[in-house]
Amino acid sequence: MTKIKKAIIPAAGLGTRFLPATKAMPKEMLPIVDRPTIEYIVEEAVNSGIEDIIIVTGKGKRAIEDHFDYSLELEENLVKKEKFDLLDKIKKSANVEIHYIRQKQPKGLGHAIWCARKFIGNEPFAVLLGDDIVKSEKPCLRQLIDQFEETNSSIIGVQRVPDEDTHRYGIIDPLEKSDRRYQVKNFVEKPEKGTAPSNLAIIGRYILTPEIFDFLDKQQIGAGGEVQLTDAIEQLNQFQRVFAYEFTGKRYDVGEKLGFIQTTIEFGLNREDLRGPLEDYLKEITKNINQSKV
Ligand code: UTP
Repeated sequence: MTKIKKAIIPAAGLGTRFLPATKAMPKEMLPIVDRPTIEYIVEEAVNSGIEDIIIVTGKGKRAIEDHFDYSLELEENLVKKEKFDLLDKIKKSANVEIHYIRQKQPKGLGHAIWCARKFIGNEPFAVLLGDDIVKSEKPCLRQLIDQFEETNSSIIGVQRVPDEDTHRYGIIDPLEKSDRRYQVKNFVEKPEKGTAPSNLAIIGRYILTPEIFDFLDKQQIGAGGEVQLTDAIEQLNQFQRVFAYEFTGKRYDVGEKLGFIQTTIEFGLNREDLRGPLEDYLKEITKNINQSKV
């Protein structure tokens, strides 16, 4: 049985939904409370047993590399001030083996994955997108790896989304279901409103066999004028079985503004040092909102 050891985290997108904040700062570095979103993703990969991570970066993404590097000046300063808890936190992010590759132009997610093909070689691998953070008992990626170990096939993470949102996602046309795992007839990227074959949406976690690169090599342009990973998965599925797996856990959509704010509040409420004052504040402002409605 081949082990999934490598993961790609594509982070070369333009982050247009967060402009102007993302003009000079990578979207992946926007903090949820006090940790950049990409740190939650790296943590999930490591907790799922991934040994090597490659981050696909692009123009203006240097801050990601700096974040996962040592910062001797900062470390010395924290030692001097005896702030050892903070020292532990910043050192932890530098302890993971991360590699980088540049996508020279943001031609789409499919193209970003293709840029990492030489790093992956001829073995199955994982992909994690930074737009989705998943809180679950067993890490979301680990759930998919367990499915891979049963099937030896590509596995795509899915969850149900509201019907009115399906046009924003890659959607599956499901066939038979066994437990939470689906055989899939078709994978459709961003179906037009009212045409989605289901409301099971691809949510930023994938296990893929290396044959996916045969289809990404073609660099076909799909929805939004971009090389879409979903289109290559659809072609792979005609050639070898690709399953979808409805993972368990709560998914936070941090790739868009409202989801980002909601995640920040919820993660803040889960933090012992913040819960009390944050709850008081939320009660206060909701009271004001209700009063202003009267
Ligand atoms: P998104 O479309 O959600 O990210 O791509 P984006 O393009 O940065 O954001 P918006 O839509 O403009 O606000 C999903 C993932 O694929 C990466 C992104 O960084 C994100 O993690 N991506 C996308 C690339 O690495 N390269 C690309 O050319 C496009």
